[in-house]
Amino acid sequence: MPSTDPDPAGRAAELAARIRHHDEAYHARGEPEIPDADYDALVRELRSIEAQHPEIVTADSPTQAVGAEVVGATFAPVEHRVPMMSLDNAFDADELRGWAERLARSLEREHADALEFIGEMKIDGIAMSLRYEDGRFVQAATRGNGKVGEDVTANVATIASIPHELVGAPPVLEVRGEVYMPNPTFAALNEAQEAAGKPRYANPRNTTAGSLRQKDPTITASRGLDFWAYQLGEVVDGPELERQSDALDWLGSLGFPVNPERRRLTGAAALAEFVVHWTEHRHDLDYDIDGLVFKLDDLGLQRALGSTAKAPRWAIASKLPPEERTTELLAIEVSIGRTGKATPFAVLDPVFVGGSTVQMATLHNDDQVRHKDVRPGDVVIVRKAGDVIPEVVGPVLAERPTDLPAWVFPSACPTCAEPLVRPEGEAHTFCVNAFCPARQQAQIDYFSSRAAMDIDGVGERTVALLIAEGLIADAGDLFHLDFERVGELEGYGQTSVDNMRAGIDAARSRPLASLLVGLGIRHLGPSGAEALARAFGHLDPIMAADAEAMAAVDGVGPTIAGSVAAYFADDRALALIEKFRSGGVNLVGPEVSASEQTLAGMAIVVTGTLAGFSRDEAADAIKSRGGKNPGSVSKKTAAVVVGESPGASKLTKATDLGVPILDEAGFVALLETGVVPGQPAEEPVSADEPDET
Ligand code: IVH
Repeated sequence: MPSTDPDPAGRAAELAARIRHHDEAYHARGEPEIPDADYDALVRELRSIEAQHPEIVTADSPTQAVGAEVVGATFAPVEHRVPMMSLDNAFDADELRGWAERLARSLEREHADALEFIGEMKIDGIAMSLRYEDGRFVQAATRGNGKVGEDVTANVATIASIPHELVGAPPVLEVRGEVYMPNPTFAALNEAQEAAGKPRYANPRNTTAGSLRQKDPTITASRGLDFWAYQLGEVVDGPELERQSDALDWLGSLGFPVNPERRRLTGAAALAEFVVHWTEHRHDLDYDIDGLVFKLDDLGLQRALGSTAKAPRWAIASKLPPEERTTELLAIEVSIGRTGKATPFAVLDPVFVGGSTVQMATLHNDDQVRHKDVRPGDVVIVRKAGDVIPEVVGPVLAERPTDLPAWVFPSACPTCAEPLVRPEGEAHTFCVNAFCPARQQAQIDYFSSRAAMDIDGVGERTVALLIAEGLIADAGDLFHLDFERVGELEGYGQTSVDNMRAGIDAARSRPLASLLVGLGIRHLGPSGAEALARAFGHLDPIMAADAEAMAAVDGVGPTIAGSVAAYFADDRALALIEKFRSGGVNLVGPEVSASEQTLAGMAIVVTGTLAGFSRDEAADAIKSRGGKNPGSVSKKTAAVVVGESPGASKLTKATDLGVPILDEAGFVALLETGVVPGQPAEEPVSADEPDET
């Protein structure tokens, strides 16, 4: 990256100051303020300026030293007899190959393809040196500045997986490794925090650092920390070891936890493959890694190569793409969903994290915003949660401008300006105006989605465009669309217009229940809609019915009935329905002929996967014949249909209660005849011998 900075020395000094600040926060206080990736970016920029302007490199530049001096330490200093070094980084495949080739040249090998390495996880925790004398654990020290660390023996002694006594150990043995917090432990800790109404911890690494800095070791003990050993420090009279891989095996045999994902790798290409593999699989691990470490396996060659002031030449850290970055929280806005739910979301200065650029992230609800204490103007930490959904972890308080006001949930809908209401005891706030334009857009999306009218050729982007162009304002307008004007829109050629027309045409004859579902009436799902459509046979009597009449329908409770009645009491609903009517949309319910009602009043439970029916199709098949499809088995159950991998409790209950059990063939026969094939209840009917009595 060529520097275009007019004042490289000034920029370098600024970078150096920031790096020193973060070094101190990280190493001396154990409270990093920014993610490693951001820190690395600062160091890289400084390095690149220094590489282009060697004359400005100062002896005290952070690129020339390891870590920070130990300041304000509350733990006794420990001098490392063998320094705890840092690692150089390779940020991409080229840098990694470059490193391997440099090694090959230094070792006077023809190329890197015959060099033997070991690939290890780069554990995202806190480096620790454990000292054993005559097999007894005597001291644990942090890295500190690499030469002097801090004595955290009492706290580290509480880590269950760290052995206190070794059998067959040399007189002096220092084991280096990483103390870390497994992700499930971290998740449980945060759940407990939340349950206690306390703020969540930001990430496992910072929590590990904090846990190690406790004055009271019982607190450390309660945090469930763990350890991976990956390196030898001072060893007096140890065994003759030829390879790093042997050293790790030996540590394992002494009882240290040694990471099982280590691999011996030959040649530079194998390193690149290892990176590709772990870039994809890092989340299969139940602890965080921030990269991979490659070490030349041969300890003799390691000695031959030696180290720079800061890092060994024989090892390199290969950084995986960062999944946590900082950026500015530009604003907190509120989006209104189909149900009116007002969801606050962060508008971020775009930042590349976890493989994509993030500029928005949900903040869930008012309580979450307060809990995280994020404020517009804050620098915030952004992470990809579960690798896909961006999440705002929290603010970097050290960078908060003074007097930055806290965000206040708006009292009015940002779109329709009607009041936003947070019902008693609910976590969410709602725009209660059913005809709010923002709700309309989300509503039309839902209307045309597969859950409702399943309109081909009318996706979210199209809906947004049609609204923006003034071609539609609600779902009813879809059936009066001016296709000529659609055809004039950019990106809508004849084919898309034809698709859209065909999709909308097909939607005109969807079942009434789909239309009802598509209206997005609160509480009204597919089964309630189906029940209403069957019971009333047409949309008009449904619209005319009062809540009581609807609540009398089997499968429609008072909540649904009340909600549907309230919806149709609004004139705007009536106007919408008129658009459907004049647009040729089917308003007629299914024909309910008595002869088809083979299962009238029968409760049929389905468990497991059937070959010929999806869960919904099986339920539909039962209900359309007048039957019920409850979720659990009772005395009143007429039959239990059993598919692949059925629920054990349903089967047991059916057997206990003597409810007939049918397989899929029996089910098909039952649908047709309405008669439960007679057989002993304990034995499932075999598909080969349907009993058609
Ligand atoms: S070896 C002389 N191996 O990464 C080599 N370090 O950025 C010393 N780390 O301070 C380090 N996993 O805290 C090594 N498998 C691993 C590691 C590892 C994590 C950390 C360690 C070190 C830092 C360097």
